[in-house]
Parts: sequence; C-alpha cells; structure tokens
Amino acid sequence: MTSQPIVYLNGKFLPQDQAFVPVMDRGFVFGDGVYEVIPVYGGRLFRLEEHLQRLDNSLSGIRLSNPYGHRQWAEVLNELVAKNGGGNQSLYLQLTRGHAPRDHAFPTDTPPTVFATTSALKPVPEETLKNGIKAITLEDIRWRYCHIKAIALLPNILLRQQAVDAGAQEAILVRDGQVTEGSASNLFIVHHGVIKTPPKSSYLLPGITRDLVLELAVSAGLAAQEAQITPEELSRAEEIWVSSSTKEVLPVTCLDGQAVGSGKPGPVWAQMRQCYQAYKEKLIAGEAE
Ligand code: PDD
Repeated sequence: MTSQPIVYLNGKFLPQDQAFVPVMDRGFVFGDGVYEVIPVYGGRLFRLEEHLQRLDNSLSGIRLSNPYGHRQWAEVLNELVAKNGGGNQSLYLQLTRGHAPRDHAFPTDTPPTVFATTSALKPVPEETLKNGIKAITLEDIRWRYCHIKAIALLPNILLRQQAVDAGAQEAILVRDGQVTEGSASNLFIVHHGVIKTPPKSSYLLPGITRDLVLELAVSAGLAAQEAQITPEELSRAEEIWVSSSTKEVLPVTCLDGQAVGSGKPGPVWAQMRQCYQAYKEKLIAGEAE
C-alpha cells in the first residue's frame, strides 16, 4: 500500500491529504459518532456482514440512521480496498452526526459524515507469538453502553496508556467484581482446560473476533463457554487471551507482574492460533467470509 492512502469521504474517493471535514463536525466537537475496524486478508474483507450488522446496532444505539444498505457498503468498501492495492489491510470506517452549530441536542436534517480509510495490517510480531504480552487489571471506568462502538474513546485511551506506562500492552477491565474485556480487545481465559469468555452485555463490545474464536473452538471440539469471570478466577487462569480484529488472538503471559500458567503462551492458545490461521487461509481462497 502507498503511504498516502485513498480514503472515502461522503461519496468520493480522494487522496487522504485532500480529504477534509468541517471543524464543526459533531465527531470533532462531541465525539458524536460510531466506527468499525475490519481486517482485510488477501484483498477480502473479513466477516463483512457481521461488521455491518454491528455497525447497524451501534447506529441504532446512538439514533443515527444508516445512509447506506449493506450492498452499498460492500461496494464502497471493496472499491476502497482495491484502490489501496488489495493485500492485507486494516479498514477503518466512521459515521458522525454531521456538522452543525454546537448544540447537545441532535441537529435536524443534517446528513451524517461518512468516512473510511485503510492502513497496512501489520502481522503480529514473532516475539509476541513466542513470549506473549503483559497486561494489568484496572477498574472499568467506561460508560454503560460499551456494546456501542462509539468513537468517543477517552476512557479506553486513558486505560490503555495506564497499561503502557506500567510496561504492559493491554489493560484488562473489572466492573463490579466481574472482568469485562480489554481496553481495545475481548478477553478469554482457559480454566481447568475450558475456554471461557464473559457473555455479551452492555458492558462489553460484542467482538467479531470473539465470536469467531467461539465458533472455531466448537468446530475443533474444544470446550468453550460464555460465563462471568471474577478477578480471582482471572488470576488463577491457566491461560489468558485477548482478541481483536487487528491483533487476532494474543496470549497474555504476565498479569499484574505475575506469570500466567507457565509464563509462556499456552497449548490451547497454540491450537486456537492454528485454527485461526487456517480460517484466514480459507477466507483468502474464497471458501469462508
Ligand atoms: N477495537 N472491545 C473493545 C473495547 C474494542 O475496542 C475492540 C476492538 C474489541 C474487539 O472487537 P473486534 O474483534 O470486533 O475487533 C473489543 C478495534 C480493533 C479498535 O478500536 O481499533
């Protein structure tokens, strides 16, 4: 991909340095919008229908109507991927409530701002696959609508930075005595050989990667369940993983300064990684979506 990507803005494909949004855009002024991140492998959008369905849910959660149907989205996004040279990309799209004089209440008859761009999808570093990542647990300070993929990410940013300042790569969040998810990822543990992830609720984002991991576990005959996880269970887990579109499934090998299991990526994670890579191969071959 070139360093200057082609972006999509309100019906037009443009070089990124020629794409502008008015300063009174409510995304800029209020963080009033929603987004999606969709990985692209071999020029193919990963689980597009699921991402578009979640986008619809986020839009209805903020009472903004979707200007495009799924077929139009697919056309726009596939064209954007092609214009940026195919291959592996990370596609970012966002919709805001458009630009209008500043007023907390919604403007009337204002078209939304529709923006999409892509960047190179970086492979997970070998070092991470070999040794895993570090995480710390933090109190989940976010609002109560975490199922909406809102662009207003200040709590997530502050939590992630707190993890980085502590020498870790992710913050694992705890609300009312239950583990919810990471600052930008979903969470899995392996406990007594069983894969567990918290059930969907308004306290976590329903991750597309999370759903695929559960599907892959079932097809591989691995025991998996959606169940609440306490911080105590987390601290005793044999394995901890975090999942997201850009990071796939990463093993957490150090939590709050203590080794997780053996302190190395675990065997169940290794099996899941194989299933995940096989799934990506099928996607690239056009045998999966
Ligand atoms: N974030 N939970 C949160 C809070 C997230 O921000 C993300 C992903 C996930 C994982 O969802 P998915 O598997 O659909 O990517 C869970 C993206 C990647 C981001 O903000 O860049």
